[in-house]
Amino acid sequence: EKGTYPHFMLKEIDEQPFVMRRIIQEYQDDQDNIKLDEDVRQAVADCDRIYIIAAGTSYHAGLIGKEFLEKIAQVPTEVHIASEFSYNMPLLSEKPLFVFISQSGETADLRSVLVEVNKLGHKALTITNVQGSTLSRESHYTLLLHAGPEIAVASTKAYTAQMAVLAILAVDTAQAKGLTLDFDPMKELGIVANAIEALCDQNEKLEQVAKDYLSTTRNCFFIGRGLDYHVGLEGALKLKEISYIQAEGFAGGELKHGTIALIEEGTPVIALATQEHVNSSIRSNVSEVVTRGANACIISLEGLEREGDEIILPSVHTLLAPLVSVVPMQLISYYAALHRDCDVDKPRNLAKSVTVE
Ligand code: M6R
Repeated sequence: EKGTYPHFMLKEIDEQPFVMRRIIQEYQDDQDNIKLDEDVRQAVADCDRIYIIAAGTSYHAGLIGKEFLEKIAQVPTEVHIASEFSYNMPLLSEKPLFVFISQSGETADLRSVLVEVNKLGHKALTITNVQGSTLSRESHYTLLLHAGPEIAVASTKAYTAQMAVLAILAVDTAQAKGLTLDFDPMKELGIVANAIEALCDQNEKLEQVAKDYLSTTRNCFFIGRGLDYHVGLEGALKLKEISYIQAEGFAGGELKHGTIALIEEGTPVIALATQEHVNSSIRSNVSEVVTRGANACIISLEGLEREGDEIILPSVHTLLAPLVSVVPMQLISYYAALHRDCDVDKPRNLAKSVTVE
C-alpha cells in the first residue's frame, strides 16, 4: 500500500535506507562476518570469469557490479544486455559463471539466455527480489535483494539493492581469496543508508531542480566518467521512462567525438562528479557544454564540490557513491514527471515485468 505517499515511486525511493539496513542484516552473521551460501561462494571461487546478464535498470546495476567484482575481488567480469546476448554470444572462458540480475526474476530476455546456459552446462546465479521466481528456480543459486515489493514501473529501490548485494558478493569473494581490503563493507553500507536518508529529506531542493531544468525541455543529457557515467545512464533511463523527456547518458570524454553537437542554448545537462580521480576532467566537460549554452546542474560528493550551487552528496566510500548519487536522479525524474502531468507509477507503453522477448 502507498500509505500517505502520493505515488509508489516516491515511497520506494524513501524506503532505500531501510532496504540498505535490511540487506546488511540479512547478509551478516552474529560475528559480523558476511553470511553467504557456501555454494555461491564456491561457484564464484571456481570460475575464471563472470558474465552478467540483465536488462534495463538491472543492466545498469550490472555495469556497477562489474566494477565491484573487478576492483574489489579481481574477478574478470563482462556485462551483457540479455536480448543481445543470444546473437552476440562472446567467446566464453573455460570456467564461466553466469550472473542473472533481475528485480522480478521473470524477464523473458534473461530466461532465454538462462535456458541456453543450462543447456551448455554452465553454472548460473540469479540475483533477484522475488523468491521462487522463474529465473531463481531455473538457476543453480540465488541471492535475494530483500527490497520488498516494488510496484512502480520505474525501478528504484531494487537498483540500489542490486548494487549493495553485488558489493557484498565482491567483498566476500575478495576475502575468500585472501585479498586485503581497506574497508568494512557493512559499515560502509550503513554510511550509505544514512546518506540516502539525508538526501530524501532534501527533496524540496530536488523538486526545484526539476522545475528549473526540466519543466518544458524536450531533452536532457547526463554526463559522467567511470562509475558516474554508468549512473548517468540510469538517470537518463529513469527520466525518459516516466517523464518522456528524451534523455541520454554520455561518457564525459566522448562528448567531443560527436554528441556535443546536440548542445544548444538552454539544453539541460546533469553532470555527476563523485569520483576524485576524474573530478577535474568532468568539470572541463561541464565548462565545454556551458560555453555552448547548456544549463548545467552538478551533483558532487562532499569534498569534491567546486561551485556554491552544486547538489552535494554526503561523503561515502568512493566505490559506493553510485548507491547515493542515483537518489537525486530518481527524485529529479519523479518531480519532472509530476510537473509534466505524467502517470508516474504507470508510464505509457511500459509493464513492470517484461515476460515477452
Ligand atoms: O525485472 P527486471 O529487473 O529483470 O527488469 C528489467 C527491466 O525491464 C527493468 O529494469 C526496466 O528497465 C525498468 N522499468 C526500469 O525502471
